[in-house]
Amino acid sequence: MEIIILPTPEDVGRVAADLISSVVKAKPTAVLGLATGSSPLDIYHSLATRVAAGELDVSQASGFALDEYVGIPLEHPESYAAVIARDVVGPLGMDPAKVRVPDGRALDIEAATAEYDAAIAAAGGVDIQILGIGANGHIGFNEPTSSFASRTRIKTLAPETRAANARFFDDPADVPTHCLTQGLGTILDAHRVVLVAQGAGKAAAIAAAVEGPLSAMCPGSALQLHQHATIVIDEAAAAELTLSEYYKYTYANKPAFQRFE
Ligand code: F6R
Repeated sequence: MEIIILPTPEDVGRVAADLISSVVKAKPTAVLGLATGSSPLDIYHSLATRVAAGELDVSQASGFALDEYVGIPLEHPESYAAVIARDVVGPLGMDPAKVRVPDGRALDIEAATAEYDAAIAAAGGVDIQILGIGANGHIGFNEPTSSFASRTRIKTLAPETRAANARFFDDPADVPTHCLTQGLGTILDAHRVVLVAQGAGKAAAIAAAVEGPLSAMCPGSALQLHQHATIVIDEAAAAELTLSEYYKYTYANKPAFQRFE
């Protein structure tokens, strides 16, 4: 893993956007793995600024969202289909026909989730997967005890996840109880992963994911099994890491040829 600790949340967004830009510049038809929630918003803003300035073209790229709620209409402003359209597809000038979100309204959930994984594979896999992390260590909505081998499937949201996401809904009771999420195995299949986290609320989850044991109790720790995972965090989210000085020294002295694995 490469751990990049930066002074501010804006720096986190800019540096993660640099990584994504470099993937898209090298491969204009890149497949992007798209996270929702607050963590990646600075990435999307930074990418949108580059697109508006004519420095980046994402129009040929395709995208697969990480997850979607079950039980809310597609038109609901907080459905992830709506969020991805509003925060990502529009601002980045992506082709809506090339961006998919798991179908939380599917009548045959098993068939829909299997087809989602098959579509990712048919696209050649995700070139770069953007991730946030929950305070309980979840990535996607793979809540604690999720199998490291899991594929896209239906999950029950943990009470702390429903509480954290209540800020997006008028009434906490409106937060869906279930979701479809890419599995940890699906996420680990991405060619490259960039996880971003900001703020003290994520410090324990980041320490457990990066330095803790591999454990289904911290699904983010599955990223220790990935060959090309980059963790971009601000100082507050890095506060509980024991080796933060080493990570900073390593990043500051990164040889141009080095690929972190
Ligand atoms: C969102 C997702 C979640 C979030 C996580 C952090 O698509 O899969 O894992 O990344 O819950 O959420 P924020 O960024 O809102 O703190």
